[in-house]
Amino acid sequence: METKKFTRKELAERNSRNDAVFIIDNQVYDVTKFLDDHPGGHEVLIGVAGKDATENFEDVGHSLDAKELMQKFLIGELVDEDKTNVKKRNINWSAGDTAAESTSFTSSWKFPVLLGIIMTVLYTYLFG
Ligand code: HEM
Repeated sequence: METKKFTRKELAERNSRNDAVFIIDNQVYDVTKFLDDHPGGHEVLIGVAGKDATENFEDVGHSLDAKELMQKFLIGELVDEDKTNVKKRNINWSAGDTAAESTSFTSSWKFPVLLGIIMTVLYTYLFG
């Protein structure tokens, strides 16, 4: 199947109940026929129609089933100039909520582990 290319600008107008299209991870989905079948309701889909719905989609934490289902509505992708860097976003996503948080000592796994060791040693000294 050939991949059709869209610009963000031309998609911006396709935001109605009769023509609902949005972008997730640089891929373009036409959900016009899916509006009434979406378990999350048609309002949310129309709300992001014409826009980049990547974050909204991820925020819901859609199931694998949902991700499989969405392939049925794929109609193409963004032109290269309009693409965002998906890889970078995914890396940020898996590394933690924000860069500042993931590097802070108290929020890393080391802090609770160290605390556990200190408590164990203290306990043995006091009550052992
Ligand atoms: C083609 C794209 C999409 C497909 C195929 C899809 C499919 C689904 C499915 C199957 C569910 C049921 C729960 C699950 O299996 O995860 C669901 C729930 C939901 N979806 Fe989507 N969805 C899409 C896009 C979106 C977008 C863009 C948004 C937000 C703007 C959204 C918001 C929600 C919400 C709020 C729920 C309800 C969650 C709940 O009740 O716990 N969905 N969707």
